[in-house]
Amino acid sequence: MENELSIEKKKIGPIALITLNRPSVLNALNREMVNEIITSLKQFDQNDEVRVIVINGKGKAFAAGADIEEMASDHPISLEWLNPFAEWDQIYSVKKPIIGAVHGYCLGGGFELALACDLLIAAERTKFGFPEVKLGVMPGAGGTQWLPKFIGKTKAMEWLFTGDLYDASEVYLYGIINKIVPNELLMEETMKLAEKIANQPPLSIRLIKEAVYKAIDEPLREGMHFERKNFYLLFASEDQKEGMQAFLEKRNPQFKGK
Ligand code: HXC
Repeated sequence: MENELSIEKKKIGPIALITLNRPSVLNALNREMVNEIITSLKQFDQNDEVRVIVINGKGKAFAAGADIEEMASDHPISLEWLNPFAEWDQIYSVKKPIIGAVHGYCLGGGFELALACDLLIAAERTKFGFPEVKLGVMPGAGGTQWLPKFIGKTKAMEWLFTGDLYDASEVYLYGIINKIVPNELLMEETMKLAEKIANQPPLSIRLIKEAVYKAIDEPLREGMHFERKNFYLLFASEDQKEGMQAFLEKRNPQFKGK
């Protein structure tokens, strides 16, 4: 295990795949692994050949949370010096769309990683939850902030207070996951969605993602103003000319990201 890379990565055409690779501990996220994920995300974000990034997990689970063994001896002062969440914050700087393909368990920090993805496909019977409370702690990478936005305050309190696990079928009802698919079709369905998005004009996708995050992060009117600026900006692109011309000429557009 020690010599094994904690993630695997590959490129399949315009799609980059990052696979969490510590199956013997249900892909528990240790700091080295989080570093590797962030480094890979940044590399793929900079790679002109990549249009969509997919994250999945090897073995029985997507990720059963942060690595409890590694965290067990942490102290507020060591955490302050280490500043482990500086890494996590960088996930939100990735400009390209990220799709999470989750199965088995998606818990704690693993759930937070999934929530940092833009789209989520889940295998049937995937279990989601924030069990941190049972360890005498709480979510630390955005769980308490994301959850009320997605499922409302009282439900979020229940999930966070009890640490219970919830089936994909229930989580789906809250709009947290885009689609539930049979386990054996998880990657096929995810790649289908990734390809669909990879064929869209990359500049539109980039500016849409940026604008959607404004909707979450900023007051409404500021977000609307931002959206308008991005909308105007797209009219300077070749892809806008191509996209609209192709529609008028009744042919498929060829998008180049320019
Ligand atoms: C370290 C973990 C782990 C974790 C599982 N393992 N989760 N190791 N950190 N988060 C290890 C187990 O110790 C075990 O190792 C192996 O993976 C298989 O797990 P089992 O427990 O034997 O499997 P199972 O009985 O199927 O139970 C699955 C499970 C359970 C329900 C998911 O493993 C579990 O409750 N895990 C902890 C979930 C959790 O509390 N997550 C939140 C972490 S805190 P051995 O060596 O015995 O085979 C967190 C804070 C985030 O995420 C903060 C921001 C980053």
